Amino acid sequence: MNDSRPDLPYRIHALELGPMENFIYVVEDIASRRAAVVDPAWEPEEILALALGKGLTITDLLLTHSHHDHINGIEQVLESAPSARLHLLKPEAEFWGRALARPELHHGGDTLQLGETEIRFLHTPGHTPGSACFHLPAGDDLITGDTLFVFGCGRCDLAGGDPEQMFHTLKDLRTGLPRHTCIHPGHNYSVKPTSTLDEQAEGNPFLHFHDIGDFVHYRMHEHDRVRNSPYGPVRRKNAG
Ligand SMILES: [Fe+2]
Repeated sequence: MNDSRPDLPYRIHALELGPMENFIYVVEDIASRRAAVVDPAWEPEEILALALGKGLTITDLLLTHSHHDHINGIEQVLESAPSARLHLLKPEAEFWGRALARPELHHGGDTLQLGETEIRFLHTPGHTPGSACFHLPAGDDLITGDTLFVFGCGRCDLAGGDPEQMFHTLKDLRTGLPRHTCIHPGHNYSVKPTSTLDEQAEGNPFLHFHDIGDFVHYRMHEHDRVRNSPYGPVRRKNAG
């Protein structure tokens, strides 16, 4: 939540919904009263109530990826937001293979203008082939879906997962965005709901690897044996 930053054109509201600790985000453009819902799922009535309570019109739905726990409220939200458009990356739509109402397919680097708020689509494959993160450059917020969790990262052993792609994706995020960037993950799996890339570079074990083979082994064979949520920081092995 960034209500304490009055200079920004937007606010991010987080709802924790459903049995899998999903975070659903409502991005509010303050001037236009438009809202974008990221990953509408589980209890659409809660999402709609939040928008209604703040006087917002939902104009856009954004999907980080197509897994059931991130999309199972799409229809109900669209019913109540008949002019809203559904945004996802083209490779995710191809992976998903489902007929969608009012889709707008994007490529990494595309931007969406939500009133005065710019939202940039980043293609971040690894958890699924067309996973996306959404970057709000005005405040350097990053909505990360199941790509990057606070002190964790998404599984790569499900259909379409690829740990080698995840290695490169995480490296690109860590090196390509400002270190003060605030991440907003798709699940509440950690000891706290948000974090900075700087803090993740220090304490997220998935950002500690230099060797791709070591990363793949840890993601696929080791991590789930040695760690349980809520995830806390892990010290770098060679950090002393
Ligand atoms: Fe997922």
